[in-house]
Amino acid sequence: MKVPLSKSERQLLCEVVENVDLAPETPGHFRLTVDAPYIAENAAPGQFIHILPSSESDLLRRPISIMGIDSDSGIVTVLYRVIGEGTRLISQAEAGDKLDIIGPLGNGFPIITDKPAVLFGGGVGIPPLAFLLKKLVDSGKGVSVRIILGAREPELIICLEDFSKIGLKPDIYVESGLAEAKKLFGDKALSVHEGLITCAFDELSDSETKSGAVVYACGPIPMLKAVAYKSLNLGLDCYVSLENKLACGLGACLGCSIPVKNDDGDIHYERVCREGPVFNASRVAFDKM
Ligand SMILES: Cc1cc2nc3c(=O)[nH]c(=O)nc-3n(C[C@H](O)[C@H](O)[C@H](O)COP(=O)(O)OP(=O)(O)OC[C@H]3O[C@@H](n4cnc5c(N)ncnc54)[C@H](O)[C@@H]3O)c2cc1C
Ligand code: FES
Repeated sequence: MKVPLSKSERQLLCEVVENVDLAPETPGHFRLTVDAPYIAENAAPGQFIHILPSSESDLLRRPISIMGIDSDSGIVTVLYRVIGEGTRLISQAEAGDKLDIIGPLGNGFPIITDKPAVLFGGGVGIPPLAFLLKKLVDSGKGVSVRIILGAREPELIICLEDFSKIGLKPDIYVESGLAEAKKLFGDKALSVHEGLITCAFDELSDSETKSGAVVYACGPIPMLKAVAYKSLNLGLDCYVSLENKLACGLGACLGCSIPVKNDDGDIHYERVCREGPVFNASRVAFDKM
């Protein structure tokens, strides 16, 4: 089925500039850069690109968040974890190959510059926060930003170099492997802890909670649910970026719909690929997902 693209989206054949295997530091992860001037010019943090893994297989496109853009050179960067056939095929693309990509897709994060920002990232939800951080810092409004990263184990913590290039060190939470995490990240992190990422709420400063910081979160659903719950209980605005499985990615199949609350508390459904992937957490009916 051929789905019409919206005005802002393009289907493009993009040349691969690099597709770097990040092992041994972060095994199973690749950083892909493509020459995609249209996307670099038009993308916003939280949006994603939809990559056809191979023209020779019948696999559907795979959504990957945009991690960085360089609008001067037209380069777009993403970071992905190989988990199945689609990402395995994408990992085989070499410099000079062409990838069939649609983008930029989705709505993106609101950029709020008059309040402190607290960014929560888990696993492959971390890369889009590098783009968001850059946008907040580049706004020139002096937004105070704090980054909190979490993962089951230290090797799933990614993008530290990208945050340090922008001049910020994250607080890191790992569920196991504290000693290894301290060894690996000691000088690149503000602090390293063992526990769930939501433990960070106990460490938020009065200025962050009392001045109504904005929480931005991207990661697995259980993490987003917990971050949303804690944020809303503190009266903080919270925006979550959902990484559900997508099919068409273009709003046509409704396969990515999630339950969202109306103002009167009734539930309706919205599409992660169109109305999302970023939602105001207070609207998402996490208990119905
Ligand atoms: C908006 C959006 C942005 C994303 N951004 C990134 C990113 O920046 N980096 C990155 O590495 N990944 C990202 N993902 C997830 C990525 O799209 C999937 O990992 C990928 O599509 C898996 O394809 P596959 O063929 O390799 O695995 P499949 O063979 O499709 O799946 C392998 C296994 O993983 C499970 N699975 C597949 N997709 C998901 C998913 N989205 N969530 C949970 N479980 C899943 C399957 O059920 C299956 O068990 C994003 C997803 C969305 C919706
Ligand atoms: S994936 Fe088809 S509507 Fe979202």
